[in-house]
Amino acid sequence: MIVVPGPASTSLGQTIAEKLNAKVVSVNLKQFPDGEYCLRFEGELDGEEVVVVQSTGPPQDTNVLQLLLMLDAAKEMGAKKVTTVVPYLAFARQDKRFLSGEVISAETLVKLIEACGTDRFITVNIHSENTLKCFRTPTENLSAITSLAEYFKNRGLDGAFSLSPDKGAIKWAEEADKVLGGGFGWLKKERDRYTGEIKVEEKSLNVQGTDVIVFDDIISTGGTIARAVKMLKTQGARRVYAACVHPLLIGEATQKILQNGAEEIVGTDSIPTSVRTVSLAPLIAEALAR
Ligand code: R5P
Repeated sequence: MIVVPGPASTSLGQTIAEKLNAKVVSVNLKQFPDGEYCLRFEGELDGEEVVVVQSTGPPQDTNVLQLLLMLDAAKEMGAKKVTTVVPYLAFARQDKRFLSGEVISAETLVKLIEACGTDRFITVNIHSENTLKCFRTPTENLSAITSLAEYFKNRGLDGAFSLSPDKGAIKWAEEADKVLGGGFGWLKKERDRYTGEIKVEEKSLNVQGTDVIVFDDIISTGGTIARAVKMLKTQGARRVYAACVHPLLIGEATQKILQNGAEEIVGTDSIPTSVRTVSLAPLIAEALAR
């Protein structure tokens, strides 16, 4: 097996390869003055089982295009089997037409990935499993929530309450609770489809004096988690932590969450940011070895 760490996931790809004891073929990225770029595999792929690792966080367009270029070239250069590992799949939140006339980005992205050539697709905590139904090739949606919860347990937060900031994320609070055991709950969030503004409904959570960890798949602007943290602190929670799989952390997201009273933000290396405390490498390597 050969692991190709794409330009957006060099460190994660390398660590996955180390865990699997697999050979790495690096990708050289050459950028031209007009912004275009050219990728070059620094090794042979002919007849090999190739794993391309490329997350598609910001800048999404660039990272998606680089992924497609690598998949197409890997097949064209004779790879026997291509496994595509995209820890964070961009555009997965647009998995349906919310307003009439909107594009369905997730579906288009799946078509492109399959057209370029993939035999197996692996992602992590995809926003909506609906997107995976568009694939004809086998897919796996891994969950990093247990790994995040284990991190908190090892930090002495065994027994903490697990909260999801909206009802759609309740499965993640439930998964975390299996490790932490302090109970779980959820908030009700609504997003205005025209302005993008969110409202989190006031809810009494009985968290006086307890430690709470808010689990979500994505932190983008930080608005969702910041509101949840604020509500928990107002209701007397002792310590509140923010945990997410894909820390996009756009703009002032980090400050917003911390200023509202969170002790810490804990994310994974799905996106290479300063909060990449928990690595996805063991989880992904284990799936690849199956
Ligand atoms: C959407 O429902 C996701 O699960 C996240 O809750 C959302 O993407 C977070 O966005 P933001 O950080 O901008 O509030």
